Amino acid sequence: MENIDALKDEVAGAIDGAADLNALENIRIAELGKSGRITSLMKSLGQMAPEERKEAGQRFNALKNTVAKLIDARKIVLEEAGIDARLIEEKIDVTLPARPEIQGAIHPISQTIDEVISIFGEMGFRVAEGPDIEEDWYNFTALNIPLDHPARQEHDTFYLNAEKDGQRMVLRTHTSPVQIRTMQVQEPPIRIIVPGRTYRCDHDATHSPMFHQVEGLVIDKSTHMGHLKGCLIEFCRAFFGVDDLRVRFRPSYFPFTEPSAEVDIGCSFEGGTLKIGHGDDWLEILGSGMVNPKVLENCGLDPTVYQGFAFGVGIERIAMLKYGIPDLRTFYDSDLRWLRHYGFQSLDVPSMVGRSSLGGAS
Ligand code: DAH
Repeated sequence: MENIDALKDEVAGAIDGAADLNALENIRIAELGKSGRITSLMKSLGQMAPEERKEAGQRFNALKNTVAKLIDARKIVLEEAGIDARLIEEKIDVTLPARPEIQGAIHPISQTIDEVISIFGEMGFRVAEGPDIEEDWYNFTALNIPLDHPARQEHDTFYLNAEKDGQRMVLRTHTSPVQIRTMQVQEPPIRIIVPGRTYRCDHDATHSPMFHQVEGLVIDKSTHMGHLKGCLIEFCRAFFGVDDLRVRFRPSYFPFTEPSAEVDIGCSFEGGTLKIGHGDDWLEILGSGMVNPKVLENCGLDPTVYQGFAFGVGIERIAMLKYGIPDLRTFYDSDLRWLRHYGFQSLDVPSMVGRSSLGGAS
């Protein structure tokens, strides 16, 4: 039995001297593991005579419990020492400069669309959308552009392969087909703007095969040309941020409007630089007109009851003018340096100056 005391002292000494958790685990395996010394003692109880077993059993158990407790206690000490050592080792140098954060920017196209929506939104317009792949009827015929109409050639249309029934879908050449889709499903009064992608087979410094437009449509019983003028003057002034911007309506032709007008804004090109709101020159920025009665009829609306006006604006064009972006093609180059230069932060507030209600200014 002295052996047991000696064994206890020996194991206690080893536990005390264990330098780290690994060494401690080795001791636990050597003593209490499957074939450890103390485990073997416990197993030897089976071969003992009953009276001997009783006393030996108590001592072995006590030894086992004592060793297990010593190991647990040492484990806590070693774990805490490990944490302390790491804390000392892993110091944070708060004087180091922070890592630069890459901040995204809003593309000028998205920013311009948001600004246009915000200005017309204030005038009571809602946003409508339509498909990029469009039926010929919506893109042309319903807009009073029949098959033999010269305007079809001007649009440089991308046609898709013919369907089984011979119909050829088109990539919409303008956002105007959404006028038709809206009038077919919505009872007037209608007051929508339609931002979206449009496509034409054309590519140079001022044309891209994919570009963006915003369409506008107002239909009601008493809408007249004065409303068209007031609304678009208001828009031009708010968008370019010039309260007294001169706006001119020049007679024009679009198959889907009658009469039609192109809208110019006052500017100067003095010294080779464009200044909006100054000088005696004019710059064309959008097309507009009173909705052609034939278009109303194509949508099932009675032109003796309803009338209205429509307009179409090129987003890239007004973005280039407002933000001084010289080449249209750069919009789609995905050049991060360009985006960092011309892009916007999410908190940049769209310009909203000098607004009043529809038809308020003239
Ligand atoms: N759809 C025309 C285009 O792409 C723009 C336009 C002009 C739209 C006059 C209109 C409008 O709604 O009334 O060139």
